Amino acid sequence: TFVVTDSCIRCKYTDCVEVCPVDCFKEGENMLVIDPDECIDCGVCEPECPADAILPDTHADAERWLALNTKLAALWPVITGRKEPLAEAEEWNGVPDKLPFLSE
Ligand code: SF4
Ligand code: F3S
Repeated sequence: TFVVTDSCIRCKYTDCVEVCPVDCFKEGENMLVIDPDECIDCGVCEPECPADAILPDTHADAERWLALNTKLAALWPVITGRKEPLAEAEEWNGVPDKLPFLSE
């Protein structure tokens, strides 16, 4: 599976949703996650994210993000279409360690 990291928080560009062939992104208030049970590992979403927020679960940093994606994917609804990024997206793109800002 691929996973969404905290780089998505307060950006939520949603370009990833547009290209996912199996609609496995789930939507929270200020972040998306990938449902690991639905992701087919195609990898097309990874280069589409303007915030570089998507990693394969083989990445050295992926373990904690996989745990977060798994937990939140069970709670959040599916998002099937692209929408406008959050208003503050450009300002927050590239800011490190955004997990404290996650709205669960
Ligand atoms: Fe969707 Fe493919 Fe990205 Fe998985 S890797 S979330 S299936 S686009
Ligand atoms: Fe988030 Fe990047 Fe998708 S910012 S919504 S993972 S395009």
